[in-house]
Amino acid sequence: MSKRIEVRDLDVYYGTFRAVEGVTLTIEPRTVTAFIGPSGCGKSTFIRTLNRMHEVIPGARVDGEVLIDGNNLYGPGVDPVLVRRQVGMVFQRPNPFPTMSIRENVLAGVRLNNTRMPKQEADELVEKSLMGANLWNEVKDRLDKPGSGLSGGQQQRLCIARTIAVSPEVILMDEPCSALDPISTLAIEDLIEELKTEYTIVIVTHNMQQASRVSDKTAFFNIEGTGKPGKLIEYDDTTTIFSNPSVKATEDYVSGKFG
Ligand SMILES: Nc1ncnc2c1ncn2[C@@H]1O[C@H](COP(=O)(O)OP(=O)(O)OP(=O)(O)O)[C@@H](O)[C@H]1O
Ligand SMILES: [Mg+2]
Repeated sequence: MSKRIEVRDLDVYYGTFRAVEGVTLTIEPRTVTAFIGPSGCGKSTFIRTLNRMHEVIPGARVDGEVLIDGNNLYGPGVDPVLVRRQVGMVFQRPNPFPTMSIRENVLAGVRLNNTRMPKQEADELVEKSLMGANLWNEVKDRLDKPGSGLSGGQQQRLCIARTIAVSPEVILMDEPCSALDPISTLAIEDLIEELKTEYTIVIVTHNMQQASRVSDKTAFFNIEGTGKPGKLIEYDDTTTIFSNPSVKATEDYVSGKFG
């Protein structure tokens, strides 16, 4: 299921503004890759290009290639909707559908593609996805209650369950814990550790401890100044980035001297 992502010379634009420039990197299957860097350097912009969510913004476009197991996501005839099934995304704020039950939230993505799933199959998928998201035991007796009745950390795990229910190969997470308390954050980090046995995971985080706890590889992005494009400065094993980076800016950033 898990896939390799190769990005080649990617520039990312909002209209004429080049927000990210010249990114080349390879993300190996079954790894967790962290994107770090100061605010505005283009982490969210870049991560959204990995499942074609960037182009939903009017005037937004990319130059360059993103290959998933060798297939260019931006190739002619590629359906962005299918790309987004293959490459799921979890956002900063947990965003379950508030009026839908926990069960229907898990099935929401699947329903878009397959409205006539038999009840038993749907029940099995709900259980499997909630187990996968480490939420099953907490919600199994209230699957028909609204998703909005869960705690923030539970809601984020519900969103992860919804994402994995469609069987993606890659899961992108843009600051998935920034709205959560430390206990819920640890629950999500444990979950990421488990998910990486099956999925390729990319996570944006401002939390250096989190990047060093959960990721195998770290990509440090930086920006020279307002209006300038963000760039990938250094990409390496997480232990190297945090203990022995090659670039001074990386060292300054991970040691808290700026950002
Ligand atoms: N919808 C948009 N339209 C135009 N410019 C945008 C849009 N979204 C982001 N930008 C610009 O792109 C640049 C990169 O923003 P982005 O949100 O990717 O940064 P980030 O690294 O995720 O920052 P943060 O750490 O604060 O989340 C910024 O200059 C931002 O103002
Ligand atoms: Mg961001």
